[in-house]
Amino acid sequence: MNAIRLARTVTKCYSMRSYSMAPCEILELLEAGYQRLAESDSQSLLKKHLTKSIFDKLKTKVTPSYCSTLLDCIQSGLCNHDSAVGIYAPDPEAYKTFADIFDPIISDIHKGFGKANKHPASCYGYGADFPNLDPEQKYVVSTRVRCARSIQDFPFNPCLSEEDYRNLECMISKVLLTFCHEHSGKYLPLKGMDKEVQKKLIDNHYLFKEGDRFLQAANASRFWPTGRGIFMNRDRTFMVWVNEEDHIRVISMERGGDLGRAYERMIIGLESLAFSLKFSCDKRLGNLTFCPSNLGNTIRASVHIRLPHIGKDKAKLEELAGKHNLQVRGTSGEHSEAKDGVYDISNKRRMGLTEYQTIGEMHKGISALIEAECRESSKK
Ligand code: ARG
Repeated sequence: MNAIRLARTVTKCYSMRSYSMAPCEILELLEAGYQRLAESDSQSLLKKHLTKSIFDKLKTKVTPSYCSTLLDCIQSGLCNHDSAVGIYAPDPEAYKTFADIFDPIISDIHKGFGKANKHPASCYGYGADFPNLDPEQKYVVSTRVRCARSIQDFPFNPCLSEEDYRNLECMISKVLLTFCHEHSGKYLPLKGMDKEVQKKLIDNHYLFKEGDRFLQAANASRFWPTGRGIFMNRDRTFMVWVNEEDHIRVISMERGGDLGRAYERMIIGLESLAFSLKFSCDKRLGNLTFCPSNLGNTIRASVHIRLPHIGKDKAKLEELAGKHNLQVRGTSGEHSEAKDGVYDISNKRRMGLTEYQTIGEMHKGISALIEAECRESSKK
């Protein structure tokens, strides 16, 4: 822990950095952190793929524009041995400078998306192609679709200055406030937000939580709450998070199982943003995000779903979901437990396939889970 606290002070001022290789104090922290990770029983992808030879090859490197080091990429995983992934890109160049560790992790998360693979161009298609998953509302409580974008020419959280945060917030909220019809709404900055209002928004799953230790250890919560906020439409079905994990998260939500409608609303919002803002993209990796788990088309579609029969055995549910490339989480999402038998189930794949294909895979998988639940319940 001390080492990480020290790392935070050492890594504070990116704008003042100008070195061509990692300085001694960073190397010492890296060596000590690596040693502890190697001795731990961590199941993270970082531990799995960061061999000694890759570590030695990368430990002195820095990214060309921001001088980000290997420590900036992996300090969250070094601090949190219970990480699933354990690595973030402090700036867009990190994916290239530290490709020897990012590539195997990307391939592991995104089912074999390797060096020779190239993420396809966007294809949104039409939400109307996907019929309601559960018209009688027996299983699907709610549906949510989100995607992430980074603004070109800005680094990611750990390298942003306080002024960058303010500028990003200003640029993004200005565009959002021009939205009309279903998408028109208000921008609520986190700074100065009433605590009760904030709590309500979090409890209703509209707003991001505070104090994520994985992000904090990655140096991604500096100057909090400056520059962070949420845009919401009147119906509370369309939201945009500003400067949480990514510069932009576009979110669309529905009661019930109308995945196609939620998807269509998100795409319209995203395209309206793209009209005025330029996003960071890589020829091979697709849209660039802070966490490698979100690269590619960046889409995470999820349902809150009641599966009382097939959900009795979590391991079996996970196995069945896995067959359809779906992931099972607890009710409040990542790192949470299921409450009242309600699971959060989402697509796993977002690299190497288009947005439309990702939604198609999700639609097919959730339909299959509902069918399995029906079969199981009619047996009893
Ligand atoms: N860094 C965390 C971990 O490794 C989160 C990884 C994926 N989730 C995310 N929100 N990016 O467990």
